[in-house]
Amino acid sequence: MFDNFKISRELLIELLKTPLEAADLLFNFANETKFRTIGNNVHIRGIIELSNICSKDCYYCGIRKSNPNFSRYEMSNEEVLELVQIAQNAGYTSIVLQSGEISNDTFSDKIENLIKSISKTTDSRMRLTLSLGEQSKDTYKRWFDAGANRYLLRIESSNPDLYYKIHPQNKKHNFENRLECLSYLKQIGYQVGTGVMIGLPFQTYEDLADDLLFMRDLDIDMCGMGPYLEHIDTPLFQYKDTLFKQDERLFLAQKMIAALRLIMPDINIAAATSLQAINPNGKLLAISSGGNIIMPNITPKKYREEYRIYDNKPMNNNLTNNFLDELVKDIHSINHEIVLSEWGDSFHFNK
Ligand code: 5AD
Repeated sequence: MFDNFKISRELLIELLKTPLEAADLLFNFANETKFRTIGNNVHIRGIIELSNICSKDCYYCGIRKSNPNFSRYEMSNEEVLELVQIAQNAGYTSIVLQSGEISNDTFSDKIENLIKSISKTTDSRMRLTLSLGEQSKDTYKRWFDAGANRYLLRIESSNPDLYYKIHPQNKKHNFENRLECLSYLKQIGYQVGTGVMIGLPFQTYEDLADDLLFMRDLDIDMCGMGPYLEHIDTPLFQYKDTLFKQDERLFLAQKMIAALRLIMPDINIAAATSLQAINPNGKLLAISSGGNIIMPNITPKKYREEYRIYDNKPMNNNLTNNFLDELVKDIHSINHEIVLSEWGDSFHFNK
């Protein structure tokens, strides 16, 4: 029944407008769909933000190139390898390497070496996801051949008009190029993830419904999407009074997760960190509305403080001895199970 579940654009728009009183119905339906297709397992990915140097100037992002109000860092491969070792000892079996967008040969070489070293030092037991922005097809291929098998590249908004309201309109910020990158990643054989920000200035329910259809049409394997959050040093900050309140954005993000689960039952859907910036329970809320992936940030504090893509980013230490134990209990309390022994590849991809 669920494989053939068809849902129109109009119905998606209505689902996204579901009022609070009826939302449990939607969330439970999304969860039921998840249980029937991929079960109640939750997988963990530790995020390492390896550099906040960025060549882009996205209007929403705190680490945009033109923001001079913080210091820039780039972790060395040795530092990352040491962190990966600590993460492995703490029980992590899967990590995400994320960074501001740097595209040059030095960076491509450095990441290629890093991927090889991680495979070597962890005996290929650490699953690697990359979230390193737009790169050439050749770079994507080299990183894949070196041992990375998943890539996250958010489209941010699938509506080109809205895309150019939240990005400068120039060669460096090109919607078509981003689409092309997503297509390269698929061709190369990565498990491909994308996603959008929810509650952006100028964004409509229609835009969000179209974002969901975009992800379905692109046949993605993974999704990470979360509420847009203001950052005082960015151009979009001036629209702060036009936005939904933060808790409404969180609620809308939950509905996006639920709706995506209904139209793509077997993909991996992550609880974005920005949910947690609004509500400390954000990850549990995302899992109980259809998500199945949690991505704790394991970047060392001194760097994480400089990787402020939005205001009030959570600063919890997710590498303490009992962090994963506590998470296992929390997730169990909402009838899901964390499995650290499995890599948690996207069912959709494996199919
Ligand atoms: N609010 C929410 N998410 C943001 N991102 C960047 N800036 C913000 C913000 N102000 C998201 C983008 C990017 C990801 C790494 O972080 O979607 O792809």
